[in-house]
Amino acid sequence: MNQEVSPINIVVLASGYGSNLQAIIDAINTNRLSARLTAVISDQKNAFALERAQRENVPAIYVNAGKKPDRIEFDRILLEALYGLKFELIILAGFMRILSAEFVERYHGCIMNIHPSLLPRHKGMNTHERVLRNGDEFHGATVHFVTPELDAGPIILQKSFRVAFDDTAERLKERVHECEHQIYPQAIQLFAESAISI
Ligand code: GRF
Repeated sequence: MNQEVSPINIVVLASGYGSNLQAIIDAINTNRLSARLTAVISDQKNAFALERAQRENVPAIYVNAGKKPDRIEFDRILLEALYGLKFELIILAGFMRILSAEFVERYHGCIMNIHPSLLPRHKGMNTHERVLRNGDEFHGATVHFVTPELDAGPIILQKSFRVAFDDTAERLKERVHECEHQIYPQAIQLFAESAISI
């Protein structure tokens, strides 16, 4: 890591298990990533990602958006949660909600996402199954800036591997996770170094 870089403040949004969040925490704690984790926010009360935050003494915030909030209403509640937090970058790490165009434009160039495919291939869900169905030779993960169009923002980093003949969707998920855990901290570090921007 470039020791000259002053740490950026990041907020992570996660809905589930949070293995990418953990990779980011580990990178910070081992000086591979010059960042401070300000808070972890989840739309799922029982997300393990929130527990990971608590273990690090980082504020773990559950945004309770009610049963079926529309996108605008959810983002209003999310903005309230973000209000007063210090951050230069929002990290989506398995965050299972689509943010409104207004929200994305408000933080233009300051939201990153990780996607379990080699974008622009396989936008959306069930990427591993689609890779198998298509007989793709390669699979992998992509870190990209978030823009209003889903999974279509500028690509920052990708890591790929060759699909093995006996790979299952479950095995592909594991292999993609291994890629993700490497490239997400690296992409955030590039942002901290001001080496990338939209
Ligand atoms: C990752 O595969 C990511 O690409 C996708 O959701 C998954 C989250 O995994 N957006 P985790 O919660 O970080 O373990």
